[in-house]
Amino acid sequence: MNEPDWAPESADTTRSNVARVYDTLLGGTHNFAADRDLARAIRAVEPHVATIARMNRAYLIRAARFLAEDAGIDQFLDIGSGIPSEDNVHDVAQRANPEARVVYVDNDPVAVAHTKAMLTDNYLAAAIRADLRRPGEILAHPTVRNLLDFDRPVAVVLTSVLHFITDEDNPPAIVARLRDAVPPGSYLVISHGTDEDRPGTAKAAAKVCGRAAPATPRSRQQILGLFAGWELVEPGLVYLPEWRPSSPDEACDHPEWCMMLACVGRKR
Ligand SMILES: C[S@@+](CC[C@H](N)C(=O)[O-])C[C@H]1O[C@@H](n2cnc3c(N)ncnc32)[C@H](O)[C@@H]1O
Repeated sequence: MNEPDWAPESADTTRSNVARVYDTLLGGTHNFAADRDLARAIRAVEPHVATIARMNRAYLIRAARFLAEDAGIDQFLDIGSGIPSEDNVHDVAQRANPEARVVYVDNDPVAVAHTKAMLTDNYLAAAIRADLRRPGEILAHPTVRNLLDFDRPVAVVLTSVLHFITDEDNPPAIVARLRDAVPPGSYLVISHGTDEDRPGTAKAAAKVCGRAAPATPRSRQQILGLFAGWELVEPGLVYLPEWRPSSPDEACDHPEWCMMLACVGRKR
């Protein structure tokens, strides 16, 4: 099969993959037939899943803007960062402060290759391939150590990735390991699939997504538990469109419909 030149050799293009399915939903072009098939299957469960993906992306950008513009954060560690989209964390951060530093981390070779290609002229941002399930390896990675100063506040960004970490891999312990590596005044940004208000659809969608990677929607209480040691920034843990919508268009009459909760915390 002829692969496009942007597909790294290590990418198995015959199987669907979370980063590329998400890229499909966002209208991107870095995906293959298997990814588009799975996106169609998810759409059969929740016809508006592409809107949910865009809502998640919009939340990420609002949170990054809050951190860079209002909280004065100039260091970001974005894990499970995905295939670059229209606007990305380093775009927001470096618009606010050209000296801002960003490290993107993903375990998907396509996401990492495409992110690296985007950053060739950007010496203050980088991408590495690593696994969130091994946070110690991320924290010790030479690129992370070179770019980020862990004596100063860092924003740890974990949007739409922790539901791909199974209970056996202990998400609270992973987040606590990252918390312990950053100083007080650092921030944590999370969005996470939930089965709180639409349990039937959330479980059915997770089952279909499981063709690419095991997916675990969690309760409000479980997601709140990830913020142990962080004080919640207003408005706390809310559905994606409820987190500081920047225009009436971003708000939503039934926010629970999106099945994803969002929250930003500041380390005490
Ligand atoms: C749904 S996308 C979210 C992308 C981006 N964070 C956002 O919110 O727009 C999930 C990303 O997490 C990555 N991912 C899943 N499991 C991971 C793991 N164990 N370690 C690192 N990245 C992971 C996938 O490859 C994918 O790029």
